[in-house]
Amino acid sequence: MSYSLNINMEDFLANYWHKKPTIIKAGFSNFIDPISPDELAGLSMEDEIDSRFISHQEGNWSVEHGPFEGSLFENLPQTHWQLVVQACNHWHAGTAELVQPFKALPQWLFDDLMVCYSAPQGGVGPHIDQYDVFIVQGSGKRHWRVGARDEGQYQESIQAGALRQITGFDAIIDQVLMPGDILYIPPGFPHEGDTLEPSMSYSVGFRSPKERELLSHFADYMIANDKGDKHLHNPGMKPQTKYGEIQTSDLDKMTAMLRSALQSDNDIHNSIGALLSQSRHQLDIIEPDTPVTAIEIQSHLKDLGFLHKVSGLKALYLQNAASCVYINGETYHTESEHLMDLLCNQTQISYHDIQSKLAQADIELLVSLVNAGLWYLD
Ligand code: SIN
Ligand code: CO
Repeated sequence: MSYSLNINMEDFLANYWHKKPTIIKAGFSNFIDPISPDELAGLSMEDEIDSRFISHQEGNWSVEHGPFEGSLFENLPQTHWQLVVQACNHWHAGTAELVQPFKALPQWLFDDLMVCYSAPQGGVGPHIDQYDVFIVQGSGKRHWRVGARDEGQYQESIQAGALRQITGFDAIIDQVLMPGDILYIPPGFPHEGDTLEPSMSYSVGFRSPKERELLSHFADYMIANDKGDKHLHNPGMKPQTKYGEIQTSDLDKMTAMLRSALQSDNDIHNSIGALLSQSRHQLDIIEPDTPVTAIEIQSHLKDLGFLHKVSGLKALYLQNAASCVYINGETYHTESEHLMDLLCNQTQISYHDIQSKLAQADIELLVSLVNAGLWYLD
């Protein structure tokens, strides 16, 4: 099932993105859930999938983490609980379809599609996220309140050891979402969803990198690539009278050393590319039992088969920089812009896509990606 989003992205980005929350009424017309509550419960029973069960019975919050046993779902109370499953798009093809309409926002910003089933009065309480999120209402109805941007006025506390909540807030948005309605919340705006009728909701989440993550990954990149492996060199050293003092002239030399490490745009760009291609949630990567050959791949494609990219896998390249492709945290090289486009901008590859268009080295790259389980034959 494919979804078409009723939104003018240019207008949305200019007026709301990172600025203010908004409701897009009937963002999806005639919305049909891509997953059933039973299927969602099934996903929450899998080891690799990150899930939570949040309950609020008689005023007591509790949070349990999956994988869950089937018995959890046999004797559930009627109200005040919610089942949350992260990165459903990595494991369930139907839910992955719901990510497609948001592709005007780049993949490097996209985090995951979280799906919630909420019983009446279920929710996670008032809280603040540091994510941009589009909450798509599926079947059912939920009442959402969103407050003014956090400027330090809200008191945060931890409930049940795992739920970050705030005490309360005055609403600037206070509305009931119907199936197909979308609530956009930028980072830093408090919000709370209460459930009026058993509901499915879909959070399409985007996460901007932090400065400290860029810095810390850059340091990892330098070590992994054996760069910056040099000591301070100071042949002009003079005696000093104060043993415990770091002299300003020495401090300046080390500051310059650190700054010079950050002078190479090439290193910075490669480190950012690799960082942004890492997924924050486990992927369904299965290496083939026996390695696949180039001939096998070509004959599979010739027989009208496809090569599919693992759902949610991030494959990225830098605009204006040829030859590097960043896939799931690793850097690969190709001279072919066509192959970059196939890997990074498409979810599947056909025979027509590669026929007489790739050099031997590019075919070999494709073979190694299939053997790493990152692309697979259908
Ligand atoms: C919810 O659906 O109640 C949780 C989603 C969120 O607030 O981010
Ligand atoms: Co939230």
